Formats: sequence, C-alpha cells, structure tokens
Amino acid sequence: MIRIEHLRKEYPTAVPLKDVNVEIHKGDVISVIGPSGTGKSTLIRCINMLEQPTSGKIFVDGEEITEKGCDVARIRRKMGMVFQHFNLFPHMTVIENIMSAPMDLLGKSKQEAYDKGIELLRKVGLADKALNYPDVMSGGQKQRVAIARTLAMEPEIILFDEPTSALDPTMIGEVQAVIRDLAKQGTTMIIVTHEMKFAREICNRVFYMDQGGIYEDGPPEQIFDAPIKERTRQFIRHLKVLEYTITSADFDFIGFNTQIEEFGRKHRISQRTIYNIQAYIEEMCVQIILSRMKAPFEILVTIEYSEEHDDADVMIRYSGEAFDPTQTDNELSMLLAERATESIIYRYEPEEKLGNIVEAQIH
Ligand SMILES: Nc1ncnc2c1ncn2[C@@H]1O[C@H](COP(=O)(O)OP(=O)(O)OP(=O)(O)O)[C@@H](O)[C@H]1O
Ligand SMILES: [Mg+2]
Repeated sequence: MIRIEHLRKEYPTAVPLKDVNVEIHKGDVISVIGPSGTGKSTLIRCINMLEQPTSGKIFVDGEEITEKGCDVARIRRKMGMVFQHFNLFPHMTVIENIMSAPMDLLGKSKQEAYDKGIELLRKVGLADKALNYPDVMSGGQKQRVAIARTLAMEPEIILFDEPTSALDPTMIGEVQAVIRDLAKQGTTMIIVTHEMKFAREICNRVFYMDQGGIYEDGPPEQIFDAPIKERTRQFIRHLKVLEYTITSADFDFIGFNTQIEEFGRKHRISQRTIYNIQAYIEEMCVQIILSRMKAPFEILVTIEYSEEHDDADVMIRYSGEAFDPTQTDNELSMLLAERATESIIYRYEPEEKLGNIVEAQIH
C-alpha cells in the first residue's frame, strides 16, 4: 500500500531520516516509538508530503507521490492525519467541521455529508454534540471530533502523531478507545505514541526509531519483550526501569520521590504501591543505609515494575564493606521497611564495585 525507498530528510541542523526503506501493507496497525528527536513526526509528515523529502521515493498504491508533477493533493486525500492539537474550526459547529471537507473536496451533497457525519459522530460517541461549537468541548471530545472529521474523508490510511499527548490523563482513555475500535475494524493506521501499553495493545507492528531511521521493525512481542538490537533493548529497559544514583548525604530526596511518582503514573502503578516504594526507600535507603555511609560512596537504586503482578522490585546496591541492613539496630526503620514490602533479601558480592545488594518486592 505504501512503499518507501531510500527516504532521506535533512534539515539545516539535523538529518532525522538517513535511509528509510519499508513497506506498509493494507490492514497494518503500526506503532511508531522511540526517543525524542529521532524523526517519528518527520517520517509520517513525509509520507503525506507535509514535508518534502530531501531524496528517496514514496509510493502510495503504486503511484509515486514524490515524483515531480504528481498530483499530491489527490493522493494525499487517501491519507488522513490526526495531530496532537485538533485544529477544529472554532466558528463552525461540530457537524459543520465534519461536513466541510467531504462537500468541498469529495463533491458530496449536503445531505450525504450530514448523514455520514452523524454516523461518524455516533461511532466516536458524540452524536448528541453535533450542534455544539468546539470551544465548549473537552480536549478528549475535540480529539474524537477530529478523528470523525478525518474518517469523513474515507481515507485508506490514517496517520496519527501523538493523538493523546496534549490531553489530560482522564481523557486519554476515551480517545484510545476510539482508535482501538478502528484497529479492530481493520483500518490501516500509523500511530506515533509515547503510550507504550496502548502502542503494544493495538498494533501488529512496531517501528522503533533511532539512528536516522527505523532501527528495528517487528511485532510487538519482539519489540517490547525480546528486542533484537542493542538500542531497542536499552530503550525498552529504560521504560520499565527507574535508576537513581546517590553519592552524597544531601542528595535531592524530593526530586527522587517526584521521579518515583512520575514513573508510577507512567506505568499506572497503584497509589498504594507508589507509596510503599517511597516508604521503603526512605527507611531502607536513607535511614538505614545512607546514614552509615562514609564519603566517597555510591548507592544505586533500581526500581523495576512488573505489569503481570502489579508489583515492583527494588534493588539497592552500595559500595563499601559488607553491611547487612536487615541487622540494623534502627529497629523502627526496619519495621517500617518491612511493612512496606513483601520480602527483603540481602547478599554480598565482594568482587563487585557495589557489592552490597538488597532486593525487595513491593506490592
Ligand atoms: N522544520 C524543522 N526544521 C529544522 N529542524 C527540524 C524541523 N522539524 C524537525 N526538525 C529536527 O529533526 C529532528 C527530528 O524531529 P522530529 O520532530 O521528527 O522528532 P520526533 O521523533 O517526532 O520527536 P518527538 O518525540 O519529540 O516528537 C529533530 O532533531 C528536530 O529538531
Ligand atoms: Mg514528534
């Protein structure tokens, strides 16, 4: 359906796409993930010619859209695009927003455009909002209208660029549900997203972007559970793991707690588990271990969340001679640490730089 050959995109200060070669098939639902600045937006903007590629070819249904003299507007109509910001016309009602392009560009009659518009609003759960103006709607509702407006053009493929990243957390779910329905109905889609759970759940293919292109292309089980290439592995590991190093007694304790909270939110960890992780780290790491450390020292805290069991493994590794913190005489802190955890196990590995290792499981 779409074939990309040797696509290159240069900006004066960056070359986000060096040499992209890929084929996208009808019915593919592709999640595009990767670090910021790796060309995810650039790729989908090149696909529908919102950006002029520096070199290379893009074919849509066998027609080369990058060819000089090609009727870009006609081919572009096969592709819908949904952005982070919905760009609805504020002076038009919801239904007018949806009707305008099909009437202007597809030559539909007013009645046809209206009927189709109402049907699509029903599909995104907003049939009763047809006569509203956008500014009285929530962000999630506006984005659902934007999706309906895109569908009204009957595109063969829809390109999404972070469709939920401008929304309040409470509204992400309703927009994701609409996209999930489209995926179930076999709509061909490319979705740039930072929501990994969602990315995994809806797609049959993932593009991990890095190093100037699609660095690894595979099914979600490969990319998320067993990535083949090194950088993909690092990226996925960093998503699941929070690491924090402490080398001074007056480290930024509040900043660390904030990071734990953000990490927790990202993974939808329950508030109770987040609280237990914080309580455990405060008692075990700060009260018991840190209070004994003599400079120079290093403490490395690693928090890894397991989706399967909704629990977290917290590993604290630190330098210095063997010290078993579970044998501390600070009984109160030890009691609180135990209360926050399922189990705490200590071991010492003398050949390691951070030879003291305390592992805890937290629910
Ligand atoms: N119009 C532009 N002019 C100059 N440089 C640009 C332009 N658009 C993007 N870039 C650069 O190209 C690179 C890739 O940008 P792009 O927006 O595609 O990244 P991204 O993967 O979508 O990142 P993010 O996850 O932050 O959205 C970046 O280094 C960016 O600064
Ligand atoms: Mg982007």
